[in-house]
Amino acid sequence: MSSALPTTQDTLPRPLNDAEASRLRADFPILGRSVNGTPLTYLDSGATSQKPTCVYEAEQHFYENFNAAVHRGAHSLAVEATDIFEQSRTDVARFIGAKDNEVIWTSNATEALNLLTYSFGNASAGLGGETARAFALGPGDEIVVTELEHHANLIPWQELALRTGATLKYIPVDEAGALRMDLAEQIVTPATRILAFTHVSNVLGTVIDVPALVALARSVGALTVLDGCQSVPHLPVNVKDLSVDFMAFSGHKMLGPTGIGGLYGRAALLDAMPPFLTGGSMITSVTMEKAEYLPSPMRFEAGTQRIAQAHGLATAVSYLSEVGMDRIAAWEELLGERMLTGLGSIPGVRVLGPGPGAARIGTAPFIIEGVHPHDVGQFLDSRGVAVRVGHHCAQPLHRALGVVSSTRASTYLYNTTSDIDALLNAVADVRGYFGVGK
Ligand SMILES: Cc1ncc(COP(=O)(O)O)c(C=O)c1O
Repeated sequence: MSSALPTTQDTLPRPLNDAEASRLRADFPILGRSVNGTPLTYLDSGATSQKPTCVYEAEQHFYENFNAAVHRGAHSLAVEATDIFEQSRTDVARFIGAKDNEVIWTSNATEALNLLTYSFGNASAGLGGETARAFALGPGDEIVVTELEHHANLIPWQELALRTGATLKYIPVDEAGALRMDLAEQIVTPATRILAFTHVSNVLGTVIDVPALVALARSVGALTVLDGCQSVPHLPVNVKDLSVDFMAFSGHKMLGPTGIGGLYGRAALLDAMPPFLTGGSMITSVTMEKAEYLPSPMRFEAGTQRIAQAHGLATAVSYLSEVGMDRIAAWEELLGERMLTGLGSIPGVRVLGPGPGAARIGTAPFIIEGVHPHDVGQFLDSRGVAVRVGHHCAQPLHRALGVVSSTRASTYLYNTTSDIDALLNAVADVRGYFGVGK
């Protein structure tokens, strides 16, 4: 019997496999190099991803053929460069389900989050006129974050609270690092004006229940700010489906160049907010006394922009789309499971984070009893395995987990099961090497 209805199997994304990931590696020459006489095993994509040749070739092609300042000048190069710059915005906006004027270029996610907090701070100081009043904060207002946050989505809010007199609160994690959703309803109150939270923990790799937190924020009329740094590179992300008001992301974590990231914001909100940086390119008219500002995105793009980098990032998202974000996510889930299960079965190794069943990307944080993470990192490096060690810019989360630092292995589309096995084999030798646990 034939049926037009898809079966469950048809609808599940088909993960990449080892053969495909191995083929993709040819696009990343750096993955072919050796470290300390051993082939490189790169498991630090959570910090920054490697770049396919098409990304830096796109930048080179731009500089060789089109380099000019955008949005000014009538000569051919300036017009062509502007077209490339704005087409890049369209491509990246489409990748996250946004409209063109809803993506603002920033240097990285950190700058995107600071842009927001400085803009809200300016509104709180009375700048930006009538429309900006909606963003003004003061004593009695609350900003809520979570205990999972990267410092980039914590310190800017601490500073905003200090500048405005608002109160900063947080949703805690339990001893395993799972967000205490059961407490969220008590912490988010009618006084909450902003709920800022990460989509995926950069330490634990856990995926947060965005719809639940968005619904909670909506119920009290608070704005939502999503840190998409660890989700946009690894999962299909659509800001309209998630229904968030703002989202920050970094290009260098998603195959793009360094020096480019973005802030998504609902157009109506962005157009009402006061600017963060002021200067050239963001105005309609200027007198010696005052200036009128353009709408988004140019309202927030003062000065000469990151043109080649935007083109590089657009090339990166086209590469990711061609491979398929759903297939990448499914592959990294498999790699992550292999990593977590393998690490958990090595004596003396403690995997951090909630146990089986929690939605996680391919990120595995762990502790090796009796060996400092820094020593673990150096030993793994001697075997060619690159991982991140330290507090991963998340000191409060580490404190909540009862540790000072950890070792984190993180995957991407170009990793294979051999990479995971290289990690596991090296980790299994750590305690022996340091003479611990004998
Ligand atoms: C969850 C999260 N948020 C924010 C950042 C900051 O990103 P960037 O340093 O690119 O600004 C990172 C970087 O590791 C991150 O993982």
